[in-house]
Amino acid sequence: MMVYQDFEELRKDCMNCTRCALCQTRHNVVFGVGNPRAKVLFVGEGPGENEDLQGEPFVGRAGKLLDTMLDAVDLSRKRNIYIANIVKCRPPQNRDPLPEEQEACIGWLRGQFAVMRPKIIVCLGRIAGMKLMDPNMKITKQHGQFIDKKGTLMMATLHPAALLRNPSQKPDAFKDFLLLRDKIMEVCPETYDM
Ligand code: URA
Ligand code: SF4
Repeated sequence: MMVYQDFEELRKDCMNCTRCALCQTRHNVVFGVGNPRAKVLFVGEGPGENEDLQGEPFVGRAGKLLDTMLDAVDLSRKRNIYIANIVKCRPPQNRDPLPEEQEACIGWLRGQFAVMRPKIIVCLGRIAGMKLMDPNMKITKQHGQFIDKKGTLMMATLHPAALLRNPSQKPDAFKDFLLLRDKIMEVCPETYDM
């Protein structure tokens, strides 16, 4: 993997990626959205249908819910956070990305970390939590818990699509966002001046 110091250069190369078979069925590579100078990075699983068609993460129903929850703690993709996914191309029928697809793609996310150097990473759902935090992640039990990985604080929360299927879990997810706000005030308060 090449070492990038520039987000745009990284993005351009990613947009032409053919490292895994998902390149054959995608309409758009969904690199990420938000402020590349943000200190808080959200990571989802992979693009769904709307994301694949529009080229932006979390633009469907789950995305609208995510934006509402972000707004409740003064976070916004237009201002002070960045949002990316473990895989940048849509898995057909929205199946879970295969281990080999995640492994092929993770270099792009690592490139994004390397340029941004976020203070906090929030994993949206089990797939991101397993890949980035703990291969045995039990999301219903471990959501909201921060761990320090080489100076970056990491937390997993429930995936907004899971909250749409199971709205009774929304208060739990909302608590995670309040804990996140406290943690931001502690480690990167400049987030709230962006
Ligand atoms: N779900 C995800 O995990 N990522 C997206 O970008 C959209 C839905
Ligand atoms: Fe490349 Fe990732 Fe898309 Fe696979 S999913 S083609 S590794 S950008």
